Amino acid sequence: MTEILKHMDGGVLTLTFSRVDKKNSLTEAMYIVLADAVEQAERDTTVRVLVLQGHETVFSAGNDIADFLSHPPETPDAPVFRLLRNIAAFSKPVLAAVAGPAVGIGTTLLFHCDLVYAGDNAVFVMPFVNLGVCPEAASSLLAPQMMGYHRAADALLLGEPFMAEAALEIGLVNRVLPPTEVNSYVQAQARKLAAKPMSSLRETKRLMKAGQAQRVQQHMNDEAAAFGRMLKEPAAKEAFGAFLEKRKPDFSKL
Ligand code: COA
Repeated sequence: MTEILKHMDGGVLTLTFSRVDKKNSLTEAMYIVLADAVEQAERDTTVRVLVLQGHETVFSAGNDIADFLSHPPETPDAPVFRLLRNIAAFSKPVLAAVAGPAVGIGTTLLFHCDLVYAGDNAVFVMPFVNLGVCPEAASSLLAPQMMGYHRAADALLLGEPFMAEAALEIGLVNRVLPPTEVNSYVQAQARKLAAKPMSSLRETKRLMKAGQAQRVQQHMNDEAAAFGRMLKEPAAKEAFGAFLEKRKPDFSKL
């Protein structure tokens, strides 16, 4: 599958979203490759650090909407939810390089990365309500914790986008860079981590996350069940239909 590129160098496994003509929107086939790659990387002792990246113009437009409608993730075992669980439980450092739009899972995935670096062109948006569904990736738990409830409501209820500088201010992003420099900067940071003792990295990450690791997994399952149910309801049908027909959705009767 060429839409997810895998590159291993010096203990750093880099997974690149490579579907730029469709704004790196993610299909079920891509989720399967990603979920499997993360699962294998967890077991593979030669992988010391995982990097997720897109292109300097776009990180990811989230779910590929047409593909999503033909393969709706209706159960917690769906590939998208498997990927999210694998990333959330990944015991080694995960870094993300984000430039351009990061929509839906393009943003929620970042709550599970240890270090996130963004281009100054990065735009984060979680438009779940506007799509007639609900948040995933435990973002309805982690966004209020990280951003504060009211800013999370702005992002999750209104679905308002926010830029790289705002993401830096709320702590979703570690540093903002020129878009052309993000991927190489992240590789340099990943190599620094790969040179450190794995046992200390893993134990430190485990301890930082221990307080709510189980709660995060439970919350993801709750969200997945609601998401699967809501996908079949009229609001989602209207929202996704409107996207495909390139028109504004009409929720006035819903
Ligand atoms: N699913 C399927 N196709 C998508 C897509 C998605 N999530 N996002 C973009 N595309 C496709 C467009 O349909 C278009 O295809 P076409 O060239 O065959 O018409 C192509 O990618 C380029 O997208 P376009 O909207 O023209 O690019 P843009 O630079 O103007 O805007 C985005 C980029 C990401 C802001 C915009 O595409 C967008 O909002 N996408 C939808 C995001 C979304 O709602 N995701 C679902 C999250 S659950």
